[in-house]
Amino acid sequence: MRRRKKPAAGGSSRLFRGLRVLVTAGPTVEPIDPVRFISNRSSGRMGVAMAAAAARRGARVTLVHGPLQVPVPRSARITAVPVESAREMRDAVIRRAPGADLVIMCAAVADFTPASVARHKLKKAGRSSLRLELVRTPDILAELGALKRRPFLVGFAAETRDVARNAAGKLARKNCDMICANDVTEKGSGFAVRTNRVTIHRRGMEPVRLPLQTKAAAARRVLDEVARMWRG
Ligand code: PMT
Repeated sequence: MRRRKKPAAGGSSRLFRGLRVLVTAGPTVEPIDPVRFISNRSSGRMGVAMAAAAARRGARVTLVHGPLQVPVPRSARITAVPVESAREMRDAVIRRAPGADLVIMCAAVADFTPASVARHKLKKAGRSSLRLELVRTPDILAELGALKRRPFLVGFAAETRDVARNAAGKLARKNCDMICANDVTEKGSGFAVRTNRVTIHRRGMEPVRLPLQTKAAAARRVLDEVARMWRG
């Protein structure tokens, strides 16, 4: 793993000053034909909150994002890299990861994409149904986790059941340092709302269950836990 700068004394704000943080946010968009696509409910709010929190602590943030429903914060410390598909997000992240100290994968990356993209609009005339063949997209977080010299990796897990077990599985399988799990079936939590309830999973440690709070507050707490791990 990359050697991190020695943490300066003082609060976690000091710790992030000058660090290079790569954050992903929002959904990816997988084209079917020139007018249609497959996507998901992510607004980008949680990822944007992570980027804003890191920038406020003095980090230099690259925000790789799919189509957002919230604005990118206006900050000289945030560089936005808009992408659309999972493949584009993968290429943008993998290209920048070697220069990053910390990567926070908050984007809801599509797991499947159409096997081929029709050149022209698919017509419904003469069809009573339509079958789409979908193929797996690259798993960006797992690819980062497999790097020999990798940045500190924080993933998110959007779950609908067995939240703790699934989050722990992702932590191990994707070889990351922290997984922030959210139950997206819980009211006020997960996709496209202003609040979130996140439980932080780390290897060999008890999960830390954060309260339901604004995404901005949740982002600050996630960074506090990263700082605590670095100090430890
Ligand atoms: O954007 P909002 O509306 O604010 O909603 C926030 C959120 C619910 C999207 C966010 O809190 C969240 O949970 N993000 C992760 C969504 C997700 O894709 O979870 P997952 O369990 O499918 O993936 C686990 C991890 O692997 C994630 O860090 C994801 O970015 C990453 N991944 C997933 C698939 C893939 N092909 N490549 C990946 O890197």
